[in-house]
Amino acid sequence: MNIIGGPASQLLAGRVSKLLNADLLVSEFRKFPDGELYTRIVGEIDTEVTIIQSTVTDSDLVSLLLLIDACCDTDRLNVIIPYMGYARQDKKFKDGEPISARAVAGAIRADNVFTINIHAESILDHFDAKAADLDATPAIGRYIKNMELKDPLVIAPDDGAVVLARNASVDLGIEYDFLDKTRLSGDTVMIKPKNLEVRGRDVIIIDDIISTGGTMAETISLLRSQGANEVYLACVHPVLSGNAVLKLLKAGTKGIIATDTIDRTVSVVSTAAVIAEAIKNI
Ligand code: R5P
Repeated sequence: MNIIGGPASQLLAGRVSKLLNADLLVSEFRKFPDGELYTRIVGEIDTEVTIIQSTVTDSDLVSLLLLIDACCDTDRLNVIIPYMGYARQDKKFKDGEPISARAVAGAIRADNVFTINIHAESILDHFDAKAADLDATPAIGRYIKNMELKDPLVIAPDDGAVVLARNASVDLGIEYDFLDKTRLSGDTVMIKPKNLEVRGRDVIIIDDIISTGGTMAETISLLRSQGANEVYLACVHPVLSGNAVLKLLKAGTKGIIATDTIDRTVSVVSTAAVIAEAIKNI
């Protein structure tokens, strides 16, 4: 089987091919003078191919579509989209809007598709292919377990992320909780951990995505005001747009832990083993 890494997932594709002992094909990525993308897979394409490409930018998405087309003659095509852009527009929030996640999923032609901690699992239904979502949070949990932390507590910034906090911590015996918002009056809300006390403890806030850093920055301030000791941030997908890193450091985080679904300097946890296992089990 060939592994083909798109431009956004070269390192991850290399790691997966090593784990599977599969042939990593090299591709060329260039731009025409007018800005259009050019892609060519160098070497003979096998009868079974796995393309790995996150779609962080629009160009990444086009690159993925081009790679898929280049592999259209294979017997079996697996597409791994470790981070799928546009997944947060998984429904119409206002009249006249598209369901962008559906538009993106509809453009992917493959036999099998895997995503990792996709923003909403309902998006999987929009793929024509057999689609499944993989969970990288246990790998994040193992990383956290090996850190030297004082009475650690994993916290989800909202109840939507509580499943991430649970999956990252429960098997390792680390406590987890989520922030709970209680409305006190028309214009006052109280936000605090639902069940557990953070005072004096090292806290790891976990979410699926850190994009602008706004959600995390607010959560850091809140936990610090409640007496948390060091506050670390963990996420599956470090989008980290604009000045997010500066914002988070200014807010007082001790460090950011993320996976390599997006290749950033904070991507210290690899999802390669999770992907390799999924491919083995197809
Ligand atoms: C939202 O639904 C997601 O789970 C994240 O909380 C959100 O995408 C984070 O975005 P930002 O970093 O811009 O606050």
